[in-house]
Amino acid sequence: MRLLRSVLSPVLIVVALATSAAAQDRIKVGEFASLTGGNASFGQSSHKGTQLAIEAINAAGGVLGKNLQLITEDDQSLAGQPATIVQKFIAEDKVVAVLGEVASSKSLEAAPICQQNHIPMISPASTNPKVTEVGDYIFRICFIDPFQGTVMAKFALAQGWKKVAVLTDVKQDYSVGLADFFVKYFTAHGGEIVKEQKYSTGDKDFKPQLTSLKGAQPDAIFVPGYYAEVALIGKQARLLGLKVPLLGGDGWVGDSLLKVAGNSLDGSFFSCHFSAEDKSPAVQDFVAKFRARYQETPDDMAALGYDSAMILAEAIKRAGTTEGDKLRDAIAATKNHPGITGNITLDAQRNAAKPAVILTIRDGGFKFQETVAP
Ligand code: PHE
Repeated sequence: MRLLRSVLSPVLIVVALATSAAAQDRIKVGEFASLTGGNASFGQSSHKGTQLAIEAINAAGGVLGKNLQLITEDDQSLAGQPATIVQKFIAEDKVVAVLGEVASSKSLEAAPICQQNHIPMISPASTNPKVTEVGDYIFRICFIDPFQGTVMAKFALAQGWKKVAVLTDVKQDYSVGLADFFVKYFTAHGGEIVKEQKYSTGDKDFKPQLTSLKGAQPDAIFVPGYYAEVALIGKQARLLGLKVPLLGGDGWVGDSLLKVAGNSLDGSFFSCHFSAEDKSPAVQDFVAKFRARYQETPDDMAALGYDSAMILAEAIKRAGTTEGDKLRDAIAATKNHPGITGNITLDAQRNAAKPAVILTIRDGGFKFQETVAP
């Protein structure tokens, strides 16, 4: 110590102390998201919502007398990245919790690492059931695909569409799972799957599959994919003279869908989590704040990102600590959280039962169709 004192000037010591005090004043939260690449619209949106929540929490005094520090990493929509990022969050950044991802396959990659390290992870938007089955440190604040698949199967049956074809993205756990849940309910309630076809994320030409589906003369086609491919599928279907409605799930969400698809998805329907047209004061207040901050209208991932960060902050407050086990218990105890995407209560499987919103596409724009209770 005497040596230290003689080597370090008083000024340096003060700076060093101040820096470590500042670091201790912050509670670090890791967020991994697809800010670039094939699913960039998912990551950019969820990040904006998450960031807005963190800013609001800190403006209101933070949690446990400290500010939250959001450390965001871009997984570039690439498999392999979530694992690397989450390892870094835990080993180097020493985050107390992880927020992410939107796409189920990405969350499934990160979840085992968070589970092993007893770091709670909250996915804002991954709907595949397997995500939270990884373990008791893994949560989500959205509904799951057995519900979403049932919602769309019931909707198809209610329209009188008895013969449906299915086009699945085999590279996404989300797509494979949702197709499965849709088919189970649909066929158990009088519907018939007249043809199934597959594609892979990143494909650009869907004409062979669509030609085969057309031959089966379906009343509608269920396409539980992500917006980038669905937009091309919509365009190519119309080029081939396939005029039946396409049906989908939350993976369709994003303005990018309509930018590429134009009017080709008019008359189609999909389920999702949120509508900015919702007149409830909570939604309208959120929409106004989001527009003021980013000059754009929030979509589902933005609202879910916001809710996920708010639920984490509330849990840290209730836990009174950021220690992994206690924070886990506090997140698990989330009840009646007044979220932007609805009331959020986490069940024993760490999932949330919430209403789904069905949107339709008309004149190249999204229009509210109906809300379906869980
Ligand atoms: N539910 C999708 C998945 O699990 C992701 C998603 C959620 C996409 C919300 C858009 C909006 O992969």
